[in-house]
Amino acid sequence: MNISKIIKADFNKFPIQNYLNEHSKQLLFKEYNLSNFFLFKRKIKLIIVSILNKILKNKIYLNKSRSLEKVKEKYDQISGTYIYSIEKNNKFYAELKDGTAVECNGNIHKYYADIISKIIKQTKSKSFLEVGAGELTQFKLICDLLKKSNFKINKTGALDISFKRLLAGKNYLKKKNKIDYIVQGNAAELPFADNSFDLIYTVHCLEQVPELFEKSVNEMLRVAKNYVALIEPSFELSNKITSNYINYKGYIQINEKLLSNIKHKYFKRIRLPFKQFLNGAELIIYKINKKKNKKTKVKFICPKNKKIIYKKKKTIGNKNVQYKIKNQIYRLVDKKIV
Ligand SMILES: C[S@@+](CC[C@H](N)C(=O)[O-])C[C@H]1O[C@@H](n2cnc3c(N)ncnc32)[C@H](O)[C@@H]1O
Repeated sequence: MNISKIIKADFNKFPIQNYLNEHSKQLLFKEYNLSNFFLFKRKIKLIIVSILNKILKNKIYLNKSRSLEKVKEKYDQISGTYIYSIEKNNKFYAELKDGTAVECNGNIHKYYADIISKIIKQTKSKSFLEVGAGELTQFKLICDLLKKSNFKINKTGALDISFKRLLAGKNYLKKKNKIDYIVQGNAAELPFADNSFDLIYTVHCLEQVPELFEKSVNEMLRVAKNYVALIEPSFELSNKITSNYINYKGYIQINEKLLSNIKHKYFKRIRLPFKQFLNGAELIIYKINKKKNKKTKVKFICPKNKKIIYKKKKTIGNKNVQYKIKNQIYRLVDKKIV
């Protein structure tokens, strides 16, 4: 895999519009700076919560607004906004090699789509799943890039906890965008059997519910046959303002210790060279060396007991979980799943 080619930062595609002066930078620092006392309190709370979560069956969240239920609620409410913004030519702040902050034209998601599509091509992955796919805007960009380079795909899927967003996404896709499964579900309890997809990726999904990070990555490693690729905020490798921003938002703080708890060691971990000034991201790739003789095949399982579930007319499920299937969308009817 040629990583430097995959993540290359090309400012021609995102032309610089403005240079941020010191005053504007300071204002941003101020906006996202939390006091040392606040951070100290949060650290103590984190220690207590992680001890309790080892003992208790039902998870306690460090920050209530970062529970899966709240995140689902928030994204249900803003459903449709990503489609609107991806269609507009928006702007974002980037950081140059020497630390200068600039305002660029374009949408950073196009850079992420470029990266994921290159990984899919270089690894010759014939099936893939996006976890936390929202309104399928990222998914569509990737499909379009693959189509443009005549890369053939057998099976694709998108999963998100917000049904409203998936529905908006389904309507946004064009006929030429191949999608086989649009599934409402939780990254930490995937409703797919082992080896269901060659490659699974996330783009700014796992950031949302920090308590589910480890479980979600382990689930993706179970369901993927060959590769898992994550583009998520970079706490450890990024600049100060990004770590402030991550703290402020309550996003996952990825570090080596956390990654050492995952069942496989990653193959590559790198901060993306096209650095967002405020929300810098990193790429983590897992290469799975097992299951070589097994074929990739999508099978649905119960996310609770991991047993295969079977289709009956327009539903699929068992006593723990029920999905209604309509137009390739698998909608959860059991609310307990969240
Ligand atoms: C910041 S958005 C990113 C969406 C998309 N990947 C993109 O780049 O446009 C995060 C998405 O992850 C979803 N999400 C967060 N935690 C999740 C989880 N544990 N399981 C499934 N979806 C989740 C949210 O509902 C939301 O749609």
